[in-house]
Amino acid sequence: MIQDSAAPRESVVHDTVTLDDEGRALVIIDQTRLPRVVSVLSLTTQEEIYRAIATLQVRGAPAIGVAAAIGVYLAALGIETDDWGEFYSRFALAKQYLASSRPTAVNLFWALDRMEGVVVRNKNLPVSEVKFLLHDEAARIHDEDIRVCRAIGEHGLCLIRDGWGILTHCNAGRLAAVRYGTALAPLYLGRERGCNFKVFADETRPLLQGARLTAFELMEDGIDTTVICDNMAARVMRNGWIQAVLVGCDRMAANGDACNKIGTSGVAIIARHYGVPFYVCAPTSTIDMNVSDGSGIVIEERAAGEVTDMWYRERMAPEGIKVYNPAFDITPADLITAVVTEHGVLTPPYGESLTAFR
Ligand code: MRU
Repeated sequence: MIQDSAAPRESVVHDTVTLDDEGRALVIIDQTRLPRVVSVLSLTTQEEIYRAIATLQVRGAPAIGVAAAIGVYLAALGIETDDWGEFYSRFALAKQYLASSRPTAVNLFWALDRMEGVVVRNKNLPVSEVKFLLHDEAARIHDEDIRVCRAIGEHGLCLIRDGWGILTHCNAGRLAAVRYGTALAPLYLGRERGCNFKVFADETRPLLQGARLTAFELMEDGIDTTVICDNMAARVMRNGWIQAVLVGCDRMAANGDACNKIGTSGVAIIARHYGVPFYVCAPTSTIDMNVSDGSGIVIEERAAGEVTDMWYRERMAPEGIKVYNPAFDITPADLITAVVTEHGVLTPPYGESLTAFR
C-alpha cells in the first residue's frame, strides 16, 4: 500500500530512506516530485519497492542499497513458513526481484548480498529469529550509511577551502543517501563549521537530478548554489570560478575507473583541461573489486521519452527519431585526482590504494 503523506512540507527533516517505527514499511521521500512537493511514501509491497527504485522515486547508489535492504527484510517478514529451506528459496526469489530493479549501482547488490548472508549463516536458527536478524542487518546498513557519509564529509573537507567554487554533477547529496550524501557531505560539514562555498550544480540531463535535487537540498541548507546547463561546465571553469569538482559514484572498478551519472566523464575531461582537481566521493560499498576496469560495468539504458518528452509541455523531438539514453558513463581512473572514502583519501595508482581498503 502506498501511503502518501503528500502535504507540502517546509523542509526535509526526514531521512531520505528509512524503515518505519513499526518495522513494517519502507519510508522514502518521493524524488520524482521534488522540488515542488515533498511527498513521503510508505511502501509495503515488493512491487511498490521495485517500482520506487526503477522509477527513481528513491535513487542514488547508497539510498538504493538501503532501500533494497529494507525491502528484502519486508519480503522476509511476509514469508510464512517455519522451514528454513522453503524460507530461503522464497527469500532468494525476493532478492532476485529487487536486484533486477536497476543494473548499475553496485550498492544495490552489495546490500542484498549482505542480507542474504544473514539468512545463509543462520540456517540452524528458527525462521522467526532469522527475521529478527534481518531486521537488525537492514537497520545496520541504514545506520552505517549515515556514519560512512559523515566520514567521507570529514575527509573531503580537508581537500577544499572556505570560499571555493565547487562544481558537482547529478545529485550525490542527502537525497542520494540516508542523511549526508557523499560528494555533498564535505559541503554540509563545511557549512556546519562556517565555510561558505559557491556551488555550481550541473542540471544533469535528462532527469535533472542537479537542477531539481541538488539545487533543492543545498538551498535548504543555505549553501550558495547556482544551476548551470550541462554544457556550461567549460565556461565556468574557464571563468576561474571552480576550484574543485566533487562527484559521487555508482560503481568503481578495481582500477579506479568510476561509473557515475551520464555526463560525469565529460566534466572530468574539462576539469583536466583547466587544471581543476576532480574528486570522486564514494563509500567502499561502491567499490566493486570483481570488475577489473570500467568496461565490465553494465550501463543502464533508459526510456527514450526521458530525452524527448519529459519536462516538455509537448514532445520536442521528431516522432520516430532514434534516441540513445545511457544513464551512466565511465570516468577513466587517470582523470581522477583522488577518491574520497570513509577511510580516507585514496590517490593513484588506484589498483593499489583500493586494494588496501576493500
Ligand atoms: O540515476 P541516479 O539518479 O540514481 O544516479 C545517481 C548518481 O549517478 C549519483 O551521482 C551516484 O549514485 C552517487 S550518489 C551518492
